[in-house]
Amino acid sequence: MYVQEFFNQLWLKYTQLTPQALFIHKLFTECGEQVVNDHIAFRTFDGCAFDLTAFTRILNSLGYEAFADYRFPEKHLEAKAFKHNSDALPKIFASELKRSELSLANQHILKRLIKTASMTELKVSDLYAGRLWSPITYAEYQSLAEESEYAAWLSTMGLTANHFTVSVNHLQNYNHLEKLNQLLISQGIPLNEVGGLIKGGPDVYLAQSATLADQYEERFACGTTALIPSCFYEFAYRYSLPSGKLFEGFVTNNASKIFDSTHRVID
Ligand code: NI
Repeated sequence: MYVQEFFNQLWLKYTQLTPQALFIHKLFTECGEQVVNDHIAFRTFDGCAFDLTAFTRILNSLGYEAFADYRFPEKHLEAKAFKHNSDALPKIFASELKRSELSLANQHILKRLIKTASMTELKVSDLYAGRLWSPITYAEYQSLAEESEYAAWLSTMGLTANHFTVSVNHLQNYNHLEKLNQLLISQGIPLNEVGGLIKGGPDVYLAQSATLADQYEERFACGTTALIPSCFYEFAYRYSLPSGKLFEGFVTNNASKIFDSTHRVID
């Protein structure tokens, strides 16, 4: 599959789950902005046919190479950053959940879930196929979310772009996160406020903000339906390193807060 077709399909699936992203994208284009993606993020489980190793193989086949590794011990995650050999395509940030670090009860839920996934070898189109396994019950969802919002999100949403990220450097009129955030707030779009609206800054060469995930009506096993978080939109501004080159990596302290964009909203 050509890599551009992969991105088209990803965007299609992502915007079906994330109407706010289409709305914001349209806001920018109506202002005459050209929207360029900084990176796209994926989530997965470790130790299965669609783990980070399998993702790496697929991304390699699309011309991507891993260039950095990250760890989030408090969230039980590991991640890799990938860039394309053409340097003209968005970076990819893919993380995986270390299942063995969860409680035995939650490990059991995830083990059963993974067993119901039909695929034996991951393929490109699986990366936007959504949930490839049987639905869990609402009680299981709540049990997972209590310990890991990431696990709950991934169990329900499946394989899909968790977020697209606009490169703020490439915007003409909204190339400052403060101004961009004000635009989104004025449009009534809820933003992730964990650690402040802007995560990071010039000291770490990367500043990011993100919306809160849209809500999606999920039908759980046994027929219960509930509104749960789907995906969100992110905005990244990169600063130049002392060498003059733009910083291209990620910052764990920023990313850890960005993960929280898919937390459940509890009234
Ligand atoms: Ni991101």
